[in-house]
Formats: sequence, C-alpha cells, structure tokens
Amino acid sequence: MLRSALVSELLTIGDISRRSGVAASALRFYEERGLIGAQRAGSGHRRYPRSVLRRIAFIVFAQRVGLTLEEIARELAKLPPDRAPTKRDWSRLSSSWSARIDARIAELERLRVGLTGCIGCGCLSLERCRLANPGDRASSLGAGPRYWVGDRPREA
Ligand code: FES
Repeated sequence: MLRSALVSELLTIGDISRRSGVAASALRFYEERGLIGAQRAGSGHRRYPRSVLRRIAFIVFAQRVGLTLEEIARELAKLPPDRAPTKRDWSRLSSSWSARIDARIAELERLRVGLTGCIGCGCLSLERCRLANPGDRASSLGAGPRYWVGDRPREA
C-alpha cells in the first residue's frame, strides 16, 4: 500500500486505542477538547486517519513534561487540520517548545542532584548543608527548597 494511502487510512477508535495505548474514553475526551479530529462512517461511528496516532503520542508526552491540555491545544492548533502534518509542520511546534523542554530537563537535573546534595530547604540535616547553606542562608532567597527551584547557593 502506498505511504500516502497508509497515512490517510481510516481506523476505528478501537484500533487507535490499541495502537496508542490510550483508552477510547480518553480519545473521545481529546476529540471533545478539539485536540484530535475524527470523521464519521456511514454508520455514524468515528473513523480516524492513521496520522492521528502522532498527535495522540504528542498529547500524552506533552502532559508528561507538564504541559496543560490548553497549552497542548494551542500548539496542536498550529498544525494543518485537514491533512497529515509534515516534518516542517511539526518543526514549527518544536521551536516554540524547545525552551520549555530545556527548562524541564534542567528541573529534572536539579532533582537528580538534589537527591544527594543540599537543596536549600532549611533542614540543615546533611553534611553538605554546612557548606552550601550555612545558618540556612537560603531562607533569605524565599520559601521552599531554594536550590531545587533554581536559586544558587550564594558565596560567603
Ligand atoms: S538539604 Fe535542607 S538545608 Fe540542605
């Protein structure tokens, strides 16, 4: 089958659910929110173009990195509604997303480092706190684990 025919092949909600790993109820919810679109067969049943699988994967992963459905909807609205998005179409999303993804990566890096280091939370319970947060100096930067949220220990 030609690639173009495969991409525009219409699949049932069950097919899409099995292939994407997303429950049919969630797919209907995404449709209600305008995140994905379906056609109706003569029987009235939903039929989705195969290309919707990439959109669904995008929605699932975007939520994993902390984007709200509103943010995801704004991004997906940049894609052409009437054809399978091309690489160029998707690259438009990635350029606006890169900063967000980088910030998330930095957050996860800090989380990893904070597992064994001082996070500036005020507990002063680790050996390292004596150097990184003497006398809970981090408290002057605000409430919460200051080094986890991005502040850096200040020099004496
Ligand atoms: S880990 Fe809590 S103040 Fe250092």
